[in-house]
Amino acid sequence: MSEKAFVMIKPDGVKRGLIGEIVGRFERKGLQLVRAELMQLSSETARIHYGHLQSKPFFQELVDYITSGFVFAMIVEGKGAVKNARALIGPTNPAEAPPGTIRGDYGLDVEANIIHGSDSPDNAEREIKLFFRSESA
Ligand code: TYD
Repeated sequence: MSEKAFVMIKPDGVKRGLIGEIVGRFERKGLQLVRAELMQLSSETARIHYGHLQSKPFFQELVDYITSGFVFAMIVEGKGAVKNARALIGPTNPAEAPPGTIRGDYGLDVEANIIHGSDSPDNAEREIKLFFRSESA
């Protein structure tokens, strides 16, 4: 069954001109890009998106970083989209992400790890509704 995942290239990825390279990886994997928008997040949206990390010491820095420039938000669709997107993205910390993954190939440290991908189908639905208000998940 087809599934949708929310993926977002973070400000460091956009600034470094990696949108085309990253979108190409999802397309070549077989996931279809069904919606995409370059957008600047409000701190309210950022705080809701990262609500599960509210009590962490890095929370404010994370909100400041994700609102510091444009992000490229997208919905990708296909079989097992959430798991497959996470596999392309790699582990949270780029220093531990293997070469061949997006974070492993392009990132150096966890504060600026290039890209976000939903970690479960439930979160994908929540994130798609948060970032693309008119979209049904
Ligand atoms: P999290 O949801 O745990 O990871 P993921 O993005 O892989 O689903 O964390 C969200 C973001 O918070 C993560 O992409 C980068 C940032 N972060 C830090 O800045 N420092 C940290 O120690 C951790 C764990 C995350």
